[in-house]
Amino acid sequence: MSVGIDEISFYTSSYYFDLRTLAEVQNTDPEKYYVGIGQEKMGMAAPDEDVVTMAANAALPLIERVGPDAVSTLMFATETGIDQSKAAGVYVHRLLGLNPNCRVVEMKQACYSATAALQMACALVARDPSRKVLVIASDIARYDLDTPGEATQGCGAVAMLISANPRLVEIDPEVGNHTEDVMDFWRPNYRTTALVDGKYSTKIYLKSLKRAWENFRVASGRRFDELSYFCYHLPFTRMAQKAHQHLAKLNKASLNAEQIEDQIAPTLNYNRIIGNSYTASMYIGLCSLLENCREDLAGQRIGFFSYGSGCVAEFYSGSVVAGYRDCLHVQRHRDMLEQRESLGYEEYLKLYHYPDFRDGEEHELPHVTRGRFRLAAISHHKREYVPC
Ligand code: HMG
Repeated sequence: MSVGIDEISFYTSSYYFDLRTLAEVQNTDPEKYYVGIGQEKMGMAAPDEDVVTMAANAALPLIERVGPDAVSTLMFATETGIDQSKAAGVYVHRLLGLNPNCRVVEMKQACYSATAALQMACALVARDPSRKVLVIASDIARYDLDTPGEATQGCGAVAMLISANPRLVEIDPEVGNHTEDVMDFWRPNYRTTALVDGKYSTKIYLKSLKRAWENFRVASGRRFDELSYFCYHLPFTRMAQKAHQHLAKLNKASLNAEQIEDQIAPTLNYNRIIGNSYTASMYIGLCSLLENCREDLAGQRIGFFSYGSGCVAEFYSGSVVAGYRDCLHVQRHRDMLEQRESLGYEEYLKLYHYPDFRDGEEHELPHVTRGRFRLAAISHHKREYVPC
């Protein structure tokens, strides 16, 4: 019996901000963003969108197909927590009408926690193959204005149904990990934006890739040339290009620069126009690969490198299942991305500074989102979510 990803769907905000506009305002060459970090647009959440509404929107097509009673556990990975106690997934559980017997838990370790959730979901399914576990990763990446991190903001959510005999990707049981206590990126409880040592974070990312890969090699016995495509954590798409060149070099791969690029290029399409979505990033990259790669991926093995600052990293692999193309939501994703609205600089600033209501008064939020769920109000310190 195999275990893995049976279905995948993602969602992002109704607004985006073009990095060309940011470059103009900053008097910077737009190529620094478009080419230098490989990002064109970043998702900006509307006042009535957050990790819960994006998560419910991402998961809706999966639940519409299998029915709300099919899910035994919902694992919600995020580092944009909206509450120190209550799991954000509990709101999603209600919005999707999941069964009261379905357990819900929230997981955190920077961008890595979706992978922890996926591995734990696979273990739960292996214990009882009749179960289906819904893994959702949802985040809003925010940095201070006028810092190097600003151009790497973004937001998005991804939902994956984990089951026995999956229709998309069978996950191999072997993994390689690397954990190290470092301060490359963090967000203390009292801050709404992340603190980051940018250049250092990219170095630690590459170091962790090497260590996790070496550990994976020992655990799995697999070679670099047994993997056809690679999904990397995508804080910005250029990071994956650097990472993959690094990994190919470490393995003395007999590939030219174009072949190395081809192994990751189809994973980058969506992230380039969404920005960093932390926990969701690598899995939106997987969606991009499955939906945009012209080659038939059936039977091909993919390498995954998940990285969460702080840091925990994991390398693992999985094989694409024959017939996967029949189970994708390509058109839905393309329509959703096309329908987004572009923001001018002043509108971007207005949204960036939109009040974070903390006074316990009643605050109704304007109906802006194009999604099926929205945050309607924050009242008496309670967040009120409704279907649209
Ligand atoms: P920066 O100082 O703005 O960028 O910071 P730079 O000056 O180094 O330029 C970036 C690249 O653009 C360089 O290329 C330049 O040469 C190039 P590189 O040397 O790197 O190959 N460039 C140009 N290219 C073409 N035309 C031009 C031009 N000008 C310059 N005209 C940095 C970049 C990534 C540090 C910054 O954006 C940042 O701090 N970002 C946030 C941190 C981050 O994303 N770190 C990634 C690793 S950590 C991670 O992935 C975890 C994370 O997702 C959080 C989590 O786990 O929860 C962040």
